[in-house]
Amino acid sequence: MKFFIDTADIQAISELNEMGLVDGVTTNPSLIMKSGRDIIEVTKEICSLVKGPVSAEVVATDASSMIKEGEKLAKIASNIAVKVPLTWDGLRACKELTSEGYMVNVTLCFSANQALLAAKAGATFISPFIGRLDDINIDGMDLISEIRTIYDNFEFDTQILGASIRTVNHITQCALIGADVITAPPNVLKQLAEHPLTFKGLELFTKDWAKTGQKII
Ligand code: E4P
Repeated sequence: MKFFIDTADIQAISELNEMGLVDGVTTNPSLIMKSGRDIIEVTKEICSLVKGPVSAEVVATDASSMIKEGEKLAKIASNIAVKVPLTWDGLRACKELTSEGYMVNVTLCFSANQALLAAKAGATFISPFIGRLDDINIDGMDLISEIRTIYDNFEFDTQILGASIRTVNHITQCALIGADVITAPPNVLKQLAEHPLTFKGLELFTKDWAKTGQKII
């Protein structure tokens, strides 16, 4: 399963990239706002750091403007995936932009039928939002399972990109179900390394080692 980082924070991307943990990056208008940077400038900088797909989202709502914005964003670098919302116009833009040879990430997916349409429109990635479904008491992981089954039934190439990840458990569940990619905030990815028994065990080893009076270097 590939790891994408859900942020436009250059420092956070660099830190995880040095660890070899960044297979790609996703951004959205809220994350660009949070970065305080110009969308073109910050996206260009991210693309120069990361080899994998970097999602940059259109903000227009009609298909022809989305296509124009998508074409402009795609010119930033060859690893841009144009992100379009899962609306009828977004699907039309997806069809056009993929036929022009661009990668397209269809975002704001909340149902299996929406994911089916995105695959039919040639999406490179479909982004089901797990956390936002959980927020309204619908199990987001059920949606990942449904899409996995549907895409496997019909051998669609569209990659399932588990999005709106809030907890490490979301990542475990996505890996078990077989999502192709997850995109998570940097702090959630770092939490994957944490376990209370690791901390407890290390504390004990450190104490016992001090009692030996030895040094390795
Ligand atoms: C995905 O591409 C989105 O940017 C992101 O995962 C949304 O997450 P949120 O629901 O935590 O804002």
